[in-house]
This record gives sequence, structure tokens and C-alpha cells, in this order.
Amino acid sequence: MSNQESRKTEVTHAVEPLRAHDFDGIQEFDNPMPNWWLALLIASIVFAFGYWAVMHRYVEESDPGKVLTAKMERASQEAARRAGVLSNPILWTMSRDATVVKAGKEVYLASCAPCHLPDLAGAIGPNLKDEIWIHGSQPLDILKVITEGVAVKGMPTWGPVLGRQKISEVAAFILSFHQPPATP
Ligand code: HEC
Repeated sequence: MSNQESRKTEVTHAVEPLRAHDFDGIQEFDNPMPNWWLALLIASIVFAFGYWAVMHRYVEESDPGKVLTAKMERASQEAARRAGVLSNPILWTMSRDATVVKAGKEVYLASCAPCHLPDLAGAIGPNLKDEIWIHGSQPLDILKVITEGVAVKGMPTWGPVLGRQKISEVAAFILSFHQPPATP
């Protein structure tokens, strides 16, 4: 029996139809994929689109990249704050924190209101709630003026009197009347 003939006998035993091709004498049955397998394939394709839409497209808070960036931003601010480093973003964050602002308001009413007035409108010292700043509008500029004062103009030096924490709180209180720059 030649090679060709022996293959033919095998073929006659097959129940399913054979594919037309033949590689070095190897042939394959034309079996359809089982239904459970096809169902799984289609389900995973549908799931992939749903997952992509929810996690990356339409539901902002669940976008893993954005969540991570926000978490890292918060963590680095927290670390800087613990290390005692103040920056413009940290002071803006403090100015939206009710506890800090409340503490700052107490300092303000006790030490600053006589010259800047309780509603920040200004009298001997300038208005602190408008957008006109003599010494700069950045949180760190405000912190610096409060700490160092402007002796010749009558703004006392508060650094040695109040200390770092109270100065950052009173700066946060003043900033709570202002809007942080829009984040790009
Ligand atoms: C004795 C009066 C007086 C008191 C008290 C006082 N300030 Fe002032 N402050 C001034 C004067 C006057 C200026 C304007 C300085 C200038 O013209 O350079 C000023 C300026 C400032 C500025 C800068 C405003 C700008 O436009 O750049 C800030 C911020 C400020 N004061 C915050 C405070 C805070 C906070 C306190 C309380 C801890 C305080 N001041 C207490 C008189 C006072």
C-alpha cells in the first residue's frame, strides 16, 4: 500500500469534512469552534469595549492614570507639608481647608483686623480681598510680606510674633477670599 493510499483509508474514517489543504500529508478536520468557546470570545470582546469606555473614556474619576496622578500630587503635597516646606499649591490647598481657615481667621481678627479691618476691606493697611497687590499676588508673596513686614510703610514684621504655623494659617485665611489659578 503506497503512502497516498494509506492516507485515503484514514480519511474515510473521518466523520467531519476535511479542509482542502494538505501540508506534508497532514490534513485537518473542518470542526466549528464549540459554542461555549465562541460565547466566551464574544463576551470578552464586548467586555473589553465596556471596560475601555468606563475606565478610560467616560468616567473621569476611574481613569487609572488620572487617579494615580491626583494621588501622587496629594502625597507630594502632604510630604512637603510634613517637611515644613510651603509652596503656592500647598497654600492654595490649605486655603480650601475649613479647619486651617478657621484657625487663620482667629489670628487675623486678633492681630490684623485693626489695620486691615475685620472684613479685609482695608484702612491703615490695604484691602486684602481685592485683586490689587502691592507685593505680589502669589501665596508665597503674601506669606513673605506677613513674615517680614514692610517696616517703612507700617506693616509690622509678624515672623517672630506669630511663628510659621500661624502665619501660614492667616495667609490661608486671606487666600480663602481669592481663587487659585485655573489648572491647565
Ligand atoms: C499696624 C497696622 C497693620 C497691622 C496690624 C497689619 N498690617 Fe498688614 N499691612 C499694613 C500696611 C500699612 C501695609 C502696606 C504695606 C505697603 O504699602 O508696602 C500692609 C500690607 C499687608 C499685606 C500686603 C498687601 C499687598 O497688597 O501686597 C498683607 C498680605 C498683609 N499686610 C497682611 C497682614 C496680616 C496677615 C496681618 C496680621 C498678622 C497684618 N497685615 C497686620 C499694616 C498692617
